[in-house]
Amino acid sequence: MPFPQLLRLTTLFTFLFLHSPFTTYTFALPLTQQFREAPQFYNSPDCPSVDQDDSYSDSSDGENDLLCSDHHAVHVAMTLDSAYIRGSLAAILSVLQHTSCPQNIAFHFVAAASANTSLLHATVSSTFPYLKFRVYTFEDSSVSRLISTSIRSALDCPLNYARSYLANILPLCVRRVVYLDSDLVLVDDIAKLAATSLGDKSVLAAPEHCNANFTSYFTPAFWSNHALSLTFADRKACYFNTGVMVIDLGRWREGDYTAKIEEWMELQKRMRIYNLGSLPPFLLVFAGKIVPVDHRWNQHGLGGDNFRGLCRDLHPGPVSLLHWSGKGKPWARLDANRPCPLDALWAPYDLLQTPFSLDS
Ligand SMILES: *[C@@H]1O[C@H](CO)[C@@H](O)[C@H](O)[C@H]1NC(C)=O
Ligand SMILES: *[C@@H]1O[C@H](CO)[C@@H](O)[C@H](O)[C@H]1NC(C)=O
Repeated sequence: MPFPQLLRLTTLFTFLFLHSPFTTYTFALPLTQQFREAPQFYNSPDCPSVDQDDSYSDSSDGENDLLCSDHHAVHVAMTLDSAYIRGSLAAILSVLQHTSCPQNIAFHFVAAASANTSLLHATVSSTFPYLKFRVYTFEDSSVSRLISTSIRSALDCPLNYARSYLANILPLCVRRVVYLDSDLVLVDDIAKLAATSLGDKSVLAAPEHCNANFTSYFTPAFWSNHALSLTFADRKACYFNTGVMVIDLGRWREGDYTAKIEEWMELQKRMRIYNLGSLPPFLLVFAGKIVPVDHRWNQHGLGGDNFRGLCRDLHPGPVSLLHWSGKGKPWARLDANRPCPLDALWAPYDLLQTPFSLDS
């Protein structure tokens, strides 16, 4: 992919150079990124139909039926913002490309109320004209007051917390959802992940990492406080990454887990009990209580570090989902011409149309 682009770039520069007298031939970079239109994806013949399931729908429009279907649809929730939209679009493409029933997938995008949602909506629908999706707004100002200023940073924007509010944001008819970060691609059928059994009462499923040092996610002030450290006394708490989760929103709503997460955030404002942003409250509420998912569904940490040029390798074992969590992002490294070896696995899903490749 980079080579033809580079060739085109060279050709264009040659062209511009040769035609330099035509200075009116302005070459303005678009204010926003332009994306290619993805192809349409079709269900395989044995896919269940979601059209009959209209028990919750108040319209005869097929799109709304799917966005509210509780039976055969796979509901995917992701956040959407201008900084990560290139990653989001790549993730969507990877989901559609690797599932047998792409027309049964409903996407629920959460955008910050302060963002230009109509622009985000337009970008998704022009890139994926056949996608079944809806964009919801998240009152980022309401969570800002809960984020302690000490941990607020670029990595810690309010939209990171949207995953804690999915039960409130998504319509009641959506019971089960797969939450996905924007810096990942799937290379397997998301329907398999979505079908994870949550048993009789579990709210959440995700790959667990019991070898990670769980202690390090909380401060000495937390562990030295007897009442607080008892939080984990009756469970085998393990770290899990919140970038890939299967959530039963019905059970979440019944248990009012959003309020439980907010309680920990309130406490964090008063005394520092952890150092990271949106992850520790999830661990406080759910660690040791989740259904473990095979590690193949979140090969995380591939982001490594842009600054020191640190590249990460895959963990041993099969791979269904590659996740560039960490500071480095594959698109930034590809643009800088300093990709990590595994970034080559992200590149085929990149839908960015560079100004140079607008060959018309
Ligand atoms: C949102 O984006 C659209 C399309 O680019 C633009 O026309 C509109 O002015 C923007 N709205 C705001 C509030 O910035
Ligand atoms: C785990 O992390 C804590 C706090 O950072 C540290 O004190 C402890 O030595 C670590 N334990 C292991 C086994 O690495």
